[in-house]
Amino acid sequence: MEISIGIIGFGRMAKTIISPLFETGEYNPEHVFGIVGGTSSIPSLLSELPKGVKVVSSEDALSKEVWSAPLKILAVKPQQFGNIKEYSSSFQSTIQFPKPLLISILAGITLKSLQNAFPEHTCVRAVPNTPSLVGEGLTGLSWSDDITSEQKITVRKIFEPISEIFELPERQLDSFLALTSSGPAYIALVIEAMADGAVAAGLPRNLSNQLTHKTISGTVSLLSEKCLHPAELKDMVASPAGTTISAIRHLELAGLRSALIEAVVLAAQKSRQLAEEVSN
Ligand SMILES: NC(=O)c1ccc[n+]([C@@H]2O[C@H](COP(=O)([O-])OP(=O)(O)OC[C@H]3O[C@@H](n4cnc5c(N)ncnc54)[C@H](OP(=O)(O)O)[C@@H]3O)[C@@H](O)[C@H]2O)c1
Repeated sequence: MEISIGIIGFGRMAKTIISPLFETGEYNPEHVFGIVGGTSSIPSLLSELPKGVKVVSSEDALSKEVWSAPLKILAVKPQQFGNIKEYSSSFQSTIQFPKPLLISILAGITLKSLQNAFPEHTCVRAVPNTPSLVGEGLTGLSWSDDITSEQKITVRKIFEPISEIFELPERQLDSFLALTSSGPAYIALVIEAMADGAVAAGLPRNLSNQLTHKTISGTVSLLSEKCLHPAELKDMVASPAGTTISAIRHLELAGLRSALIEAVVLAAQKSRQLAEEVSN
């Protein structure tokens, strides 16, 4: 079996990352080999993938074949990290690819832990976010020092179809995650709450949801297209003794801004703490 890409943990994120690579023809489905936890998830997974992709469970003897791929994406849950064991393979070393590549998307698993677990590999830590599902994602990347420029290009090509890429020192990845990976959840809460407010103020539910989405996306477009600082936009909208400044007074009293600041800081702290728990 000739494998060019191995997927260890073929769940939601792995599907999001790999699917556009089939569409662009970057990877031939026949050369993609995936592993999942149990056999029950295989039929529905295969029905969503192009013909030719092979998927087996981690219990299957064939699963060790994944280690012969020059490129692997590790996409199990962080709690399953300890169950993944590296097997040596007959990898043919070249100047461009001295060692096979392993790209991990696991939250909080450091390059050091990856390198300890997969010493035969050049390791990459990638932090993609869920808007990648619609090609509007952001991915933070950090790699081990032994990575070649050819390998960097290979990694970038994987994430470019779904996201804008940011190469960062690893110490910044937890903060990147706290903003970009957890951020969609904060924004979803804000959207839900604003729509609830519109319902409480008398608008129908569907219309409230639709108007909230459009208000948020329109505000983001305005800020970026006119290069406005958020404070400038706030001042443009808040007229003296008007409705907006009354609402802002309440938001300040309720601590909206400090709640969001603390939320991002706490998420970054939690990511660092998870990394320590795994490495201990
Ligand atoms: N969701 C996000 O927004 C997001 C963003 C950035 C990064 N991440 C990271 O992405 C990773 C995957 O998240 P996800 O949402 O895609 O999870 P998921 O849908 O639950 O996928 C996990 C996959 O791992 C498989 N698996 C379980 N045990 C395994 C084993 N021993 N060997 C091989 N495969 C095994 C599961 O198979 P079964 O279904 O058969 O058990 C499943 O296919 C996580 O580490 C997360 O930190 C997620």
